Amino acid sequence: MRHELDNTRIPQHIAIIMDGNGRWASERGKERSFGHQAGVDTVRRITSECVRLGVKFLTLYTFSTENWSRPADEISALMGLVLSSLEDEIFMKNNVRFQVIGDMGRLPQEVQQKLRETMEHTAHNTAMTMVVALSYSSRWELTKAARELAQAVKAGTLQPEDIDENLIGGRLETAFMPDPELLIRTGGEVRVSNFLLWQIAYSELYFCDTYWPDFDEQDLHRAIASYQARQRRFGKTGGQIESGE
Ligand code: IPE
Ligand code: IPE
Ligand code: MG
Repeated sequence: MRHELDNTRIPQHIAIIMDGNGRWASERGKERSFGHQAGVDTVRRITSECVRLGVKFLTLYTFSTENWSRPADEISALMGLVLSSLEDEIFMKNNVRFQVIGDMGRLPQEVQQKLRETMEHTAHNTAMTMVVALSYSSRWELTKAARELAQAVKAGTLQPEDIDENLIGGRLETAFMPDPELLIRTGGEVRVSNFLLWQIAYSELYFCDTYWPDFDEQDLHRAIASYQARQRRFGKTGGQIESGE
């Protein structure tokens, strides 16, 4: 079934928790890393489709702070995939700017270097920004922001009464982009796993059972169609929204 999308109401920012790679591989009797490899192909397809649809920011949860407790061989397979996938021509071909959020200092030197190069290399691309969350967790990010604000107060450059939501939002890794209108999680789990807790305060959430390697353009359209069918009320009544108040 085709999902008719309203092209005037495509989310500007879509965030995705790309889950299910390991189970996808296990069901095929393969190593988990085989699933991660297949997941990279999905990233490529979904990135192109987001550009085609006119999405401006695509944030992909790629490796969480908690994922550091996975087996060492899986972590190194994931780091290897990050490195090799950054070689891709996907960014230049699709005019996509590349950005990273997360604790980059914890990543292997070689990966940090490649990430920096890719950011520089793609800095002038304008169709869409792909944001990869690596060694990222929301509590890490919020804790860092709180510490920085406390230091500014201590140094006398900030008054506690000047701390407001904009100031906090501006201290987060995501300060350069709007909050996501739509958060998608693949792979069947209905949880947020420490991703963008502040930023998804009013996002529409969409969960599907499809494992990330199987998630395709149709699934993306289904998620956007679901988003477009909802009334975003932001605390108001449905009547107020309808009358454009
Ligand atoms: C998501 O797939 C990718 C990462 C967390 C790196 P998983 O590896 O979590 O796959 P499942 O959830 O075990 O199937
Ligand atoms: C969330 O997936 C993190 C990423 C997709 C990178 P996990 O598979 O690590 O999530 P939990 O731990 O099962 O919630
Ligand atoms: Mg998982």
